[in-house]
Amino acid sequence: MAITLDVTNLVATADGRTGIPVAAVEGARARFAAAHSHLEAQHASGILGFLDLPGNAALTAQSVDFAAKATGRYRDVVVLGIGGSALGPIALRTALKPAGWNAMSDAQRAGWPRLHVLDNVDPRTIGALLASLDLAGTLFMVTSKSGGTGETMAQFLVVQDRLASAGLALRDHVVFVTDPAKGALRAIANREKIPALDVPPNVGGRFSVLSPVGLLPAALSGMDAHAIMAGAADMATRCNTDDLLKNPAGTFAVLQWLADTTQGRRIHVLMPYRDTLRDMAAWFVQLWAESLGKIQPGGASVGPTPIPALGATDQHSQVQLFMEGPQDKTVTFLTTIGHDADVTIPKAFADIEELGYLAGHSLGELLDVEQRATAGALAKRGRPSMTFTLDTVDAWHIGALFMLFGIATVYGGHLYGVNPLDQPGVELGKQYTFAKLGRAGYDAARAEFESLPKSDPRWVL
Ligand code: PA5
Repeated sequence: MAITLDVTNLVATADGRTGIPVAAVEGARARFAAAHSHLEAQHASGILGFLDLPGNAALTAQSVDFAAKATGRYRDVVVLGIGGSALGPIALRTALKPAGWNAMSDAQRAGWPRLHVLDNVDPRTIGALLASLDLAGTLFMVTSKSGGTGETMAQFLVVQDRLASAGLALRDHVVFVTDPAKGALRAIANREKIPALDVPPNVGGRFSVLSPVGLLPAALSGMDAHAIMAGAADMATRCNTDDLLKNPAGTFAVLQWLADTTQGRRIHVLMPYRDTLRDMAAWFVQLWAESLGKIQPGGASVGPTPIPALGATDQHSQVQLFMEGPQDKTVTFLTTIGHDADVTIPKAFADIEELGYLAGHSLGELLDVEQRATAGALAKRGRPSMTFTLDTVDAWHIGALFMLFGIATVYGGHLYGVNPLDQPGVELGKQYTFAKLGRAGYDAARAEFESLPKSDPRWVL
């Protein structure tokens, strides 16, 4: 079981391949060692709780035990949450459940529940899902680290009203995942005797997928929570070195940072060549963007812009831009060795050139050749890329990947000179929303919002 990282196409060669000069990689070793010891110091001070999750058997047991007791009781599990509370469960579902899981029959799902994740407050989506569910057989998992996020609270209020109207007890159909002591959800859990699992106080939202935030929906829908944690533990051990080229999280972070800050490659594309890994890219985008897009203490705005892509689909979309657009990107491929299930392309129409060459190959082979061809074409045009290769997409490798990118993000914070654990930039919009919806204590924000320039009819078409 392994994940390899090949950065050949990100490193410049004497014969002219574009990339980071070897001297710059070597020169960054000391800088990385400093980033690694900063991570160790932060960990020792207790603020990087996600690193401790693989060793927290009691916390993993919260999810596994709750799921064991819930087995057979629910046909549908619905996660209510947003941001880090939703993207991890979505990535897990896409990676570890078969495509079309929610459309399968109970028998095809071997009795495991369908898994829905409501990661927004669009009334059309929520209304349609709630109308389609038999609430008596549904468990709502309300996930909020802070326990008070507006969108999630609104979702919960709608759901509790529907449950009450159906005469169903909240505590039988709702489980909270939240801070062990603080926040509105914890207070409601205590008051209403609603089961509540913990997100440790030192684990931030976008770093929380290896807590019950990800593990509870995983265990409820039949994924192997222990294997996820074993993969994460293995990766944490592997990354516990300040030797840059032995540390995949460090190498990823340092090369992205060098590409951005020394070559203007500030757009970081994550491009899985597996449908199962599609939503890992969406999860990574939040982690990289919300953690590293910041104002440095000195006042400079910094941070890479992560972009999700999917091979081969995006070869007919964004790849044109990657090949010939501005020289401001790196591309990171995610792939696997082989395919769990492959499909041979049948021999037919052999006399027609556009079809004949495909015969006898497989769809998996086509996908893999396309990935290598795209990496090669990018290199030929001076466009750097790197490739993570997983042995396979399973619980162990997904856990390892979550841990790898989490650690890389902490290194990124040090390299960019920002705090990767906060998100001050999202506060102002929240305050204006609270003010406009009449939340007490937001009069100043309301006044500030009202003083913003109004829409000018000259510029409205
Ligand atoms: O990474 C973060 O902290 C955020 O993206 C949160 O995950 C998001 O805002 C949801 O927060 P909470 O889990 O507190 O409801």
